[in-house]
Amino acid sequence: MNQRLKNAAHWLNDQNINLAFVNSTANVYYFSSFYCQPHERLLGLFLFPDKDPILVCPAMESSQARDAGWKYGIIDYNDSENPWEKVKSQLHEHNGNKADAIAIEREQLNYARSMELQSIYPEAEITDFEACANQLRVVKDEKELQILREAAELADFGVEVGISALAEGKSEVEIIAEIEYELKKKGVSGMSFSTMVLFGDKSALPHGKPGDRTLKSGDMVLFDLGVVYKGYCSDITRTVAYKSMNDNQKEIYNIVKDAQQKALDMSKPGTRIGDLDKVARDYITEKGYGEYFLHRIGHGLGIEVHEYPSMSDTNNEAMQEGMVYTLEPGVYVPGIGGVRIEDDVVVTKDGYETLTKFSKELLIIE
Ligand code: GLY
Ligand code: MN
Repeated sequence: MNQRLKNAAHWLNDQNINLAFVNSTANVYYFSSFYCQPHERLLGLFLFPDKDPILVCPAMESSQARDAGWKYGIIDYNDSENPWEKVKSQLHEHNGNKADAIAIEREQLNYARSMELQSIYPEAEITDFEACANQLRVVKDEKELQILREAAELADFGVEVGISALAEGKSEVEIIAEIEYELKKKGVSGMSFSTMVLFGDKSALPHGKPGDRTLKSGDMVLFDLGVVYKGYCSDITRTVAYKSMNDNQKEIYNIVKDAQQKALDMSKPGTRIGDLDKVARDYITEKGYGEYFLHRIGHGLGIEVHEYPSMSDTNNEAMQEGMVYTLEPGVYVPGIGGVRIEDDVVVTKDGYETLTKFSKELLIIE
C-alpha cells in the first residue's frame, strides 16, 4: 500500500472508524493517482483501517484507473446500472454488514450519496474525513513541489504572453485567447480557473468578468491566471499599466507590493497563519486603503487551486514546512482601478521560496 493510503488507514484505526468514503476528484487523485472527472456519475474510494481499499468508478473509466497504477479492487458499473446496489453487496462481502462509524468528506459528499451510504450501514454514525485528508495534503513532498514549480513557471509564462499581447483596441477576451492558446501548446491540461484579464476600471473588481472591453492608454491591466499541470495547480496575479500611470495608481501599486513583501517576510514554520493576513492588512490600513482590501490574503494550493488552509486573519494554525499557498493582497478603488499581486509560495525549513517568479517591478507597457 502506498504511504498515503497507509496514513489514511492509520487515521481510521486511531479514530475507531470502520470505513471512509472519499469522492472528491482531488482526494481520489491524492490517494489513488487516478485523476477522473466523472461528471454526475459515482466515483469514489472506500478506505478501511485494516483492509485493502476499493475504488468505485464508471466501467468506461476503469482501464484508466489500472493504467494509473490502481491495483486493488474496483466496483465498476455501466450507465444502465445502479452503482449503489453493487457497492452494497461488495462492501458487505469485503467488510461485513455492520459499521459503527463511517467517515465522509463533509463539504463534498452530497445528501443523496450520504443517504445511500447510511442505508448500507443504517446503524453507523456519519463523521468527517476531511480533517484527515487536509492534514495529509497540506504538506507537499518533493515530487509534488517539483510539479508545483513547473506549474508556477507556466503561470509566469502566461503573464509574459499576456503582456506581450497587449495592444490598443484589443479586448480582454482576445488577450485571454492568446494566453490560453500558448499555454495549451506547452502541454497544460487546462486552466486552474477562468483566466482573468481586466482593463481599466474593471480591475477594481477582484473577480471581474472579462469581456469585450478594449484596451486604452492609461488603463491598469490585471492578469489573474493559473494552469493545471500534471494534476497540480498554479495561480498568479500581476497588474501592469498600459502606456501611462498616474501618481495615485503608482502609490497603490507600491502599497500592495510592500504589503505582500511583509507577508512573505513572515513566511516560515511556526508563524500563525492569520498573522500573514494581519501584517499586510495593517500596513494597507495604515496607508489609508484598508477598506479597499476586500478579501483574505490567500489560500492553500495544490491539487486544487483553492484548498486547505484558508489564509485568513482568523486562522490560528501554525505554518509548516512544505505548505504551499498564495499571497495575494489587493486594493480595489472604484474609478481608479485595482492592483493585486499574487505569488505561489512554499514554506521551507527556515523561511520560504516563491514558486512564481514573474517580476513585480512596476511595469508601464509601451
Ligand atoms: N485566482 C483567483 C483567486 O484566487 O481567487
Ligand atoms: Mn489565488
